[in-house]
Amino acid sequence: MNAMEAILTRRSTRKMKPELPSRKLIEAIIEAGRAAPSGHNNQTTHLIVITDREVLSRLAVTVQKAFSEMTADDGTYASLKNAINAAKRGGYVFHYNAPVLIVTANRTGYGNAMADSACALENMMIAANELDLGSCWINQLHWLTDHPSVRAEMEALGLEKNETITGGLIIGYPDGELNRTPLPRAGNPVTWIE
Ligand SMILES: Cc1cc2nc3c(=O)[nH]c(=O)nc-3n(C[C@H](O)[C@H](O)[C@H](O)COP(=O)(O)O)c2cc1C
Repeated sequence: MNAMEAILTRRSTRKMKPELPSRKLIEAIIEAGRAAPSGHNNQTTHLIVITDREVLSRLAVTVQKAFSEMTADDGTYASLKNAINAAKRGGYVFHYNAPVLIVTANRTGYGNAMADSACALENMMIAANELDLGSCWINQLHWLTDHPSVRAEMEALGLEKNETITGGLIIGYPDGELNRTPLPRAGNPVTWIE
């Protein structure tokens, strides 16, 4: 698969097998993430790679509790509102029980924190596709980066005090065929000045 194919056939995978991909495969994906460009070549995107099932389960419970205690109103961002409502219903697992969760973090207050992390996340999603693995951006820990219990748990896992969670990614073998059907893009407008 060449780079264009890997980009154009990448789709989000949310149903994954519990089986853990090999360390070699996970490392190849991490290498792609670390190879991403960064503003001023800062290289401050921190990847926290979690494959420990107990830790993943504990995090899911903490996130569910955090959301279930929040209140959505008319101004709440739609995805966040969905998460809050799902958590209140119970059984909410933000990482879909994927075997690998890579959390991205960056220096708090750094202007390119999100941009640098997004470059790393996209590189990793494309690499996962090339390696026949499913992936999906997972944003819940970013929304909860300042939530006391989420922060405490993430700091125990290596998040630095001066870092903000910028995003996350799940990786795993798809439960079924890997969806590579490109999603029609009606948005993302292009303006040409010729
Ligand atoms: C910034 C960002 C945040 C996202 N957050 C989530 C998320 O928390 N959970 C989820 O299931 N998908 C999440 N997604 C995946 C999008 O829903 C998905 O990319 C979009 O629906 C397009 O589908 P595709 O990835 O299959 O092309 C996120 C994607 C981006 C870029």
